Amino acid sequence: MIWVFGAPSRLRTRGGKSQVVAVHAFDTFLQERMIPVRLGEPLGPYTTMKVGGPADFFVEPRTPGELAATFRAALECDVPVRILGSGANLLIRDEGVRGAVVRLTQFNRREGLHVQAGYNFAKLVKETAAEGLSGLECLAGIPAQVGGAIRMNAGGRHGETATAVKYVDVMGPDGELRRLSRDEVGFRYRGTNLGAAVVIAAGFELRPAEGIWDRYNDVLSQKKSSQPLGTHNAGCMFKNPPGGHAGRIIDECGLKGTRVGNAHVSERHANFIENDGGATAADILRLVELIQSRAAQPLELEVLVW
Ligand code: EPU
Repeated sequence: MIWVFGAPSRLRTRGGKSQVVAVHAFDTFLQERMIPVRLGEPLGPYTTMKVGGPADFFVEPRTPGELAATFRAALECDVPVRILGSGANLLIRDEGVRGAVVRLTQFNRREGLHVQAGYNFAKLVKETAAEGLSGLECLAGIPAQVGGAIRMNAGGRHGETATAVKYVDVMGPDGELRRLSRDEVGFRYRGTNLGAAVVIAAGFELRPAEGIWDRYNDVLSQKKSSQPLGTHNAGCMFKNPPGGHAGRIIDECGLKGTRVGNAHVSERHANFIENDGGATAADILRLVELIQSRAAQPLELEVLVW
């Protein structure tokens, strides 16, 4: 098993012999097809929180064909797959991620209002606002890739991604492509019903309107004045509970500035946790538990934890 020597040590001890063989087969499959893969890649740098351990396999397919081949091999070899977008709404545990983490960095083209999943969403929002097209300007400044913004129906007090979406192209775990209408995506507050299907591209429905560039700038400056942009954080940690605001609830508990290790509750917006440098995922999760135990209402995490 040549791969064992170069692979992270946990792969050697995890599972039985059949699992080791299957994982080896997955690695070999990717290498033989020259699909870009790295073993034991630290994931912290790929997230805005800058925290977390390595991925067993870090795969960056260049084409839909390579992506489909990766999915089919993973299915065959029983290797779990996760898609990493811009890492802006994500906390990676210190132990890292078992299986494959796939990044769609190469899927980054925009043709009019048909946009691939790896395209920078904040850039799309800015560009369409500058083109005088209405529909996305209310989402100014959301750090995401298009695929991630759709999957979690990113949004805020001014609107959400779903309303501007016409269709979504997805790839199933079997590598099959399908185009879904907006209704078929099953958008809800900060989520969809996409399940294991992966967003490959999306079509947006926007219409020309007056004053869109000004509206974009208003939304952006409101965000800049109320949120700790430019620090290491994962955006809002908790979903807003029905009829309330997690930020206000946490603030009212007097938790701003509360610290665990090198992480603290933002003084600027209480629904943000900031990594001061060197925070661990364990620090952040302890702070999350402390907030949940003090809050007057149940608070559900918005940030994904891997
Ligand atoms: N508030 C406080 N203390 C705080 C923070 C907020 O009292 O520390 C109060 C504000 O004064 C305001 C209310 O809570 O009355 C709501 O605050 P804000 O306007 O900042 O909106 P939010 O509900 O906290 C939502 C989204 C944000 C999005 C903003 C602006 C969620 C969970 N959050 O925040 O999204 O940027 O609207 O559109 O839906 C994110 O999803 O990562 C995110 C940051």
